[in-house]
Amino acid sequence: MKYSAKYSQLVMPQDTNILGTLFGGKMISWMDIAAAKAAHRCLIDVSADSIVTRAMETIEFQEAVEMGEWVNLESVVVSVGKTSFKIKVEAYAERIGGEKRLACSGIFTMVSVCKNEDGTFKSVAHGLNLS
Ligand SMILES: CC(C)(COP(=O)(O)OP(=O)(O)OC[C@H]1O[C@@H](n2cnc3c(N)ncnc32)[C@H](O)[C@@H]1OP(=O)(O)O)[C@@H](O)C(=O)NCCC(=O)NCCS
Repeated sequence: MKYSAKYSQLVMPQDTNILGTLFGGKMISWMDIAAAKAAHRCLIDVSADSIVTRAMETIEFQEAVEMGEWVNLESVVVSVGKTSFKIKVEAYAERIGGEKRLACSGIFTMVSVCKNEDGTFKSVAHGLNLS
């Protein structure tokens, strides 16, 4: 079974850096949400409250994205552990009338958790097998 998700954002003025292109921290935030969307789809018959981001690796900014362009985020679960999911996220920039181009990519590790009474999280097995 393949667990994946898509979601899009339009780059607005408040999303830009001092050079007028998409701020990298904003891009990572959108990628984190895209990863979470794919991971949420894995939580079937699991006694977890939700998932949290545990790690991000090999984030690469391949191309700048201009204000007014769309960012189309594609996420797919590429491997699972006992409590974790590794999700590959690719962000494609799209301008009106233009080709879509890979702007940023990264691997996110999400962990299925229950929330403790004191607000901290406890990791829980998700029981998912990708095969
Ligand atoms: C998520 C959390 C409850 C897990 O705590 P824990 O029970 O001690 O578990 P660990 O972090 O040791 O390991 C959990 C999983 O993450 C994996 N992991 C740990 N560190 C990792 C790293 N640096 N990179 C990738 N995976 C990692 C472990 O291998 C384990 O996976 P597995 O069960 O599939 O084998 C705890 O780390 C936490 O609360 N972190 C903060 C989360 C947060 O606030 N995120 C931001 C908001 S969403």
